[in-house]
Amino acid sequence: MSIAKPIPQHIAIIMDGNGRWAKLRGKDRTEGHIAGVETIRTTLRIAAQRGVRYLTFYAFSTENWGRPEAEVNALMDLLCRSVINETPELIRMGICVRTIGDRSRFSERVQQHLAQIEEQTAAGDRLTMVLALNYSSRDELRRAVQELARRVEAGTLQASQIDETCISEMLDTAFMPDPDLVIRTSGEQRLSNFLMWQASYAEFYFPEVLWPDFTEEEFDRALDVYAARDRRFGLVK
Ligand code: FPP
Repeated sequence: MSIAKPIPQHIAIIMDGNGRWAKLRGKDRTEGHIAGVETIRTTLRIAAQRGVRYLTFYAFSTENWGRPEAEVNALMDLLCRSVINETPELIRMGICVRTIGDRSRFSERVQQHLAQIEEQTAAGDRLTMVLALNYSSRDELRRAVQELARRVEAGTLQASQIDETCISEMLDTAFMPDPDLVIRTSGEQRLSNFLMWQASYAEFYFPEVLWPDFTEEEFDRALDVYAARDRRFGLVK
């Protein structure tokens, strides 16, 4: 009798290498991001088939505003277009879309599209796709600490009541479990301000492949690597 291999409940992905993928082909960086959206689509489908429940994509960091204006605009357009075009398929697949990050810095148009996709896919119960948008861990923690301080000031919370659960519940990610596996493509081995609190006990996997080339085989390899890891959570086993 074969023993079923453990499947991560939550995979968080740093989609790195779109720009290099485009450059290698003599294309504009935007073409790399367009190819990257295609990979998001494939990854969602396979992850749902394999039984993954949460898939978080680092789509736009607070630092990404520092990219050339044309690239930022192209990313915003791509985000809006993808959200509009993909919604029917996401609903059909039972995928619920959520976001983490501070959305208030986005244009009204982008904010409306995001609110709409969240509302229209809210009933999806097969897999939750989480888009990290204008997100960084330090900014998320800053916002959480500010809110806790406000409550202490208002007298609705005592400083001594602030424990780890209380902090986790104040973060954007409060609605989901911590990631079991963090994948960063393109061979870079950094967390880059992504889910720093939440990834405390995650397994990390850094394939060399660029994000647009992250295929079904690559995804399954990541699952195999995860299954072979010995997670001890600081205990002796
Ligand atoms: C990293 O590659 C990729 C990003 C910063 C953006 C990822 C965004 C998308 C794939 C599109 C977002 C749209 C939706 C629908 C979520 P890079 O540009 O840093 O690549 P490089 O390191 O090779 O230059």
